[in-house]
Amino acid sequence: MSTTTPAPNTTYAADLVVFGGTGDLSMRKLLPALYHSDRDGRLAPETRVIAMSRGGLTDDDFRGKVDAEVRDQVPVDDPAMWRRFLARLHHVSVDVGGADKSGWSALTRLLAGHEQRDRVFYLASPPRTFGPFCRELDEAGLVTPRSRVVLEKPLGIDLPSAQRINDEVGAIFEERQIFRIDHYLGKETVQNLLVLRFANAFLEPIWNSLWIDHVQITAAETVGTPGRRGYYDDAGALRDMVQNHLLQLLTLTAMEPPARNDRESIRDEKVKVLQALRPIAGGEAARFTVRGQYTEAGDMPGYLDEPGSTPPTEASRRVETFTAIRAEVKNWRWAGVPFYLRTGKRMPYRRSEIVVQFKDVPHSIFPGGTPNRLVLRLQPEEGIELHIMAKEPGAGEVTLKPVPLSLSFGKTFTARVPEAYERLLTDVLAGNPTLFMRRDEVEAAWRWIDPILDAWQAGAALPEPYPAGTTGPAGAHELLGRSGRAWHEEEA
Ligand code: BG6
Repeated sequence: MSTTTPAPNTTYAADLVVFGGTGDLSMRKLLPALYHSDRDGRLAPETRVIAMSRGGLTDDDFRGKVDAEVRDQVPVDDPAMWRRFLARLHHVSVDVGGADKSGWSALTRLLAGHEQRDRVFYLASPPRTFGPFCRELDEAGLVTPRSRVVLEKPLGIDLPSAQRINDEVGAIFEERQIFRIDHYLGKETVQNLLVLRFANAFLEPIWNSLWIDHVQITAAETVGTPGRRGYYDDAGALRDMVQNHLLQLLTLTAMEPPARNDRESIRDEKVKVLQALRPIAGGEAARFTVRGQYTEAGDMPGYLDEPGSTPPTEASRRVETFTAIRAEVKNWRWAGVPFYLRTGKRMPYRRSEIVVQFKDVPHSIFPGGTPNRLVLRLQPEEGIELHIMAKEPGAGEVTLKPVPLSLSFGKTFTARVPEAYERLLTDVLAGNPTLFMRRDEVEAAWRWIDPILDAWQAGAALPEPYPAGTTGPAGAHELLGRSGRAWHEEEA
């Protein structure tokens, strides 16, 4: 994984066309990230950002919208720089799938004469639009050899739909031109995980089933799903978070050392991990997976009572807002080491972390010790902690206490830690696909997820309720408890 930010791409101007360019993702993540890149001198002076939507906005309308909605999210210390950023922005109205093709003509006029620039088409729109968008783009003759396409998740709802999307996009773009985003891969700690593993000698000899008892990968969120029922009823925590973010973290934790730090070597190793995941199908789903749905607590509504545009349906009752899974990587290095995955909405804290729990000392001469634990925190504060046993100061009996050797990125490095999207957009503009998912990776992930979904759908059981603001249903604690283990925070 290329772990340094690629060289500033100020040499080559690019046209970045964002389909869904006035939507939530664009306004909250992409435009702030682009502004930061501009501020840090990573955009060529001629680089343009062209938002496409059905909105019927002029360039000035769009600039006004960005001024009103994005300016407050970013540090504007130099108004001239902000004006320069706004001047890069354009808007084209388009109706994908509609009879009116005037939007494509407008885009063609805007791009004409700039065929030598890098062209990035960023699809921040629902996946059903990916195929039609690429087709119409091609029909308009806008795909050049220097074009790339960026696909936002979710990539399908199961393996067949993911394959269909990949086929449709693959009919227009070559695989080397397709960048499938998983924004977790842009997080600083995720990249640091590989540096920690492969640029330090001390960990690799103990990074296996001889020394490691189990691994916990958690993405806990305090937010619920207000206004998102339309999407979330069909997604649920498994598709929304596990199929992509959590499995990506698992692959980086479990992968073999790649021979080279290049785009294919790392992705080759990650695919092998996904292929080695032990399938969980049929009756095994009840043993190795847990589903939960949050219910009303205090002033927090339950999932079914969240304000939304549509009333709850049977799908709403069945969807999981929490899931925990005991996964296993069936290979020489990891045989017998459980990987516990967990994610949920409306949990008591926002925390994403990978916890590697080492085995206990083979023979203890002090009472009260606990095994070492390595914690890689992605958020809220990115950092790494190694929990070791130390003696509490004092005379008399030796009393042990676990204490963290701690590295906080914020405190150790003065440089600003870029947002995940900033890093990923920089890589897209530089043409570096290492941090993006390859087709076989996405499909291997679905291949493991689909049997779990099938088992859940075949059963009559509903997700276990858990009160909003708690750490999930009882089943999640039993999943570890039955082998004498506990989630990290329960032991803290
Ligand atoms: C998105 C999911 O991919 O990731 C959201 O669709 C989730 O449901 C979000 O809230 C979490 O991202 P982060 O970076 O806040 O952990």
